[in-house]
Amino acid sequence: MAKLLVANWKLNPIRETEAVRLARASDAKGVVICPPFPFLKAVGKILRRAKLGAQDMFWTEQGAYTGEVSPQMLKKAGVEYVIVGHSERRRWLHETDEMIGKKVVAALKAGLSVVLCVGEPISVRRKGLAAAKRFAGTQLRKDLGGVSHLTSHISHLVITYEPLWAIGTGRADNPRDSAAMAHFIKKMCASRFALRDLQVLYGGSVTSKNIRRIFEYNEIAGALVGGASLNAAEFRKIIAAASAYAV
Ligand code: 13P
Repeated sequence: MAKLLVANWKLNPIRETEAVRLARASDAKGVVICPPFPFLKAVGKILRRAKLGAQDMFWTEQGAYTGEVSPQMLKKAGVEYVIVGHSERRRWLHETDEMIGKKVVAALKAGLSVVLCVGEPISVRRKGLAAAKRFAGTQLRKDLGGVSHLTSHISHLVITYEPLWAIGTGRADNPRDSAAMAHFIKKMCASRFALRDLQVLYGGSVTSKNIRRIFEYNEIAGALVGGASLNAAEFRKIIAAASAYAV
């Protein structure tokens, strides 16, 4: 099965010229590139094989919501994917599961593919994998509370398991544990939301060195890559590893 690579550039790079250069180097089939909002147009213009993604959006089309961006605005800018519920937004912007749930519904309704992020903090993981599953399960129940009636859009939902303690630390999760988490997420979504063939990605300190071991597991349908997607040579290696699974 082909593996999906989502490059989350976060608040990087500083200049548009750099963003365009990086996008050119990352432009491959099976890749989604998520630059900061002001670079979406310039990056979208040069992409031939990769798809364009956004890092966030608001749940309403229009109104008095200072600083926000709507699903339709993203669609018009050529965006096909949107990351929702990233732990950095939950942490720094205090996004709640209720807000995230609204975003998931709005994005799916607008025809965007959603990359919903869930994952537990280290305090939970120290209690074991069962505790991590309970934590992610609770997030999913809340974040996906509104999707059950969106049956025609549901195939556009992708979930990323991103344990908080693995993000930007250089300490990726043991792939066997991530695969167990992905399996749990797939099973739960199949029984609760009748979601079949759900793609579950792994995120957290993915590099060219550990990607092959992560991708060995069928349960893991791809990766959400932060830091390593900002280094063109490093990301090319990750793309090469993913291309072994191309169909
Ligand atoms: P890193 O790959 O830098 O650990 O970031 C992971 C992440 O948060 C991707 O969204």
